Amino acid sequence: MEDILSQVYDPEAFREAGHRLVDVLADHLSNTQHGLTEQAITWRQPNEALERWQFDPDAPGGDAVNLLQEIMTESVQLHHPRYMGHQISPPAPVAALAGLLGDFLNNGMGVYEMGIPGTAMEVNVVRALAKQMGFSPEADGFLTSGGTLANLTAMLAARSIRAEGNVWQEGNVRPMALMVSEEAHYCVDRTARIMGWGEAGIIKIPVNARFQMRTELLEEYYQNATDNGLEVIAVVGSACSTSTGSFDDLEAIAAFCAKHNLWFHVDGAHGGASVFSQKYRHLVKGISLADSVVMDFHKMLLTPAVTTALVFKNGAHSHQTFSQKAQYLFGQATDPEWFNLARRTFECTKVMMSAKVYVLWRTYGTALFDAFVTRMYDLGTAFAQLIQNRPDFELAVEPECNIVCFRYLGPGDAEANNRLNARIRKVIVEDGHFYIVQTQLRGLTWLRVTLVNPRTDEGVLKGLLDKVILFSN
Ligand SMILES: Cc1ncc(COP(=O)(O)O)c(C=O)c1O
Repeated sequence: MEDILSQVYDPEAFREAGHRLVDVLADHLSNTQHGLTEQAITWRQPNEALERWQFDPDAPGGDAVNLLQEIMTESVQLHHPRYMGHQISPPAPVAALAGLLGDFLNNGMGVYEMGIPGTAMEVNVVRALAKQMGFSPEADGFLTSGGTLANLTAMLAARSIRAEGNVWQEGNVRPMALMVSEEAHYCVDRTARIMGWGEAGIIKIPVNARFQMRTELLEEYYQNATDNGLEVIAVVGSACSTSTGSFDDLEAIAAFCAKHNLWFHVDGAHGGASVFSQKYRHLVKGISLADSVVMDFHKMLLTPAVTTALVFKNGAHSHQTFSQKAQYLFGQATDPEWFNLARRTFECTKVMMSAKVYVLWRTYGTALFDAFVTRMYDLGTAFAQLIQNRPDFELAVEPECNIVCFRYLGPGDAEANNRLNARIRKVIVEDGHFYIVQTQLRGLTWLRVTLVNPRTDEGVLKGLLDKVILFSN
């Protein structure tokens, strides 16, 4: 074999590099989670970053582990207690190791014979999740690449099953629509547009003071839509919404969908994980009444991205997304080829995402997920309390989970405070000790945190409020 090819597959070089890298990562984990590393984020302007990471493909060389260490140091540190930005959890190291194994094996998960353990783990994980959600054994589904794609897949299935005519064959014969809270994640809006339904195809239901869908308005909006010639296919419940972490009343939506024979979908990308918390599972009461549910393991369940489950109440429906009605055998619990997952998923080659959840769940059990979700949601309440005790801060809404929106109240009017809070957030990111994000709610700019680190405590959160005050000047 040519030198370069034998070099790249040299087992001893791999052993040496792998051991060094794991040592680097373990030290980094210890330092970050104990707050010994300063930066939760190392901010660079985009163009500066582009230049920093330029390389010459014709002049290779250098030590790969040193390079990996540089990348690590300059990346966002999810294991840092001062990381509280977007909704993604610090991966459990064992789940990251499973990711390494999956990358190393590179078994594609579309065709059964290319990923035998991966496929079996995937189906078992999804069935265990469905059971945890309270579904009957008829439920089934699969893992897919992110909540965005999973929501689209669910809506394609809903259209295939509920629309008049054969959409797969004939396309959209009639104008169709789905109904969803105005606070839903933007990917639901995208879904309607991707399906060719346009602006009219996404009916946004106003929210109440707690940013939950006003379900009492569903009937009126539905009647208006049907009067205007729209065929309403589905209602999507948010569990929870992205900006404020507000949970829609799933039981009310389920009752409405049952009355009108509509598909009931739950976007539980973030808060679907509540089913694991004995203390907080009441937030998603009614989830098992849904026809389909999306849940991201990478958001609230310590799993590397992207690992998303799409569960169907009637497992047979999961086979109908990409098939014509005529080809489909109703009433059959599973397709005879249930194990060839590409028949049901967008992906053809799919990474072995199942190993990450499976190894984690099998090693530590459901108690791990309960402990994590409960602790993070509790911390959301504790942070809200801290904010309420400070007259110079305002809370957008009492949090239902681990997403908290708040703002510093300066002396100026609402507009001045919008500018002030946006500036504070910018300086916080540039400073890098904390990583937080921001959101807009009813014309106001809010600072927003998602608490995802078990080592974030009230001391750290008080430190954040102090930082906000420091940067308000
Ligand atoms: C409620 C909700 N749905 C869907 C998504 C999209 O999920 P993903 O980033 O896995 O595509 C998000 C992401 O924040 C979300 O909060």
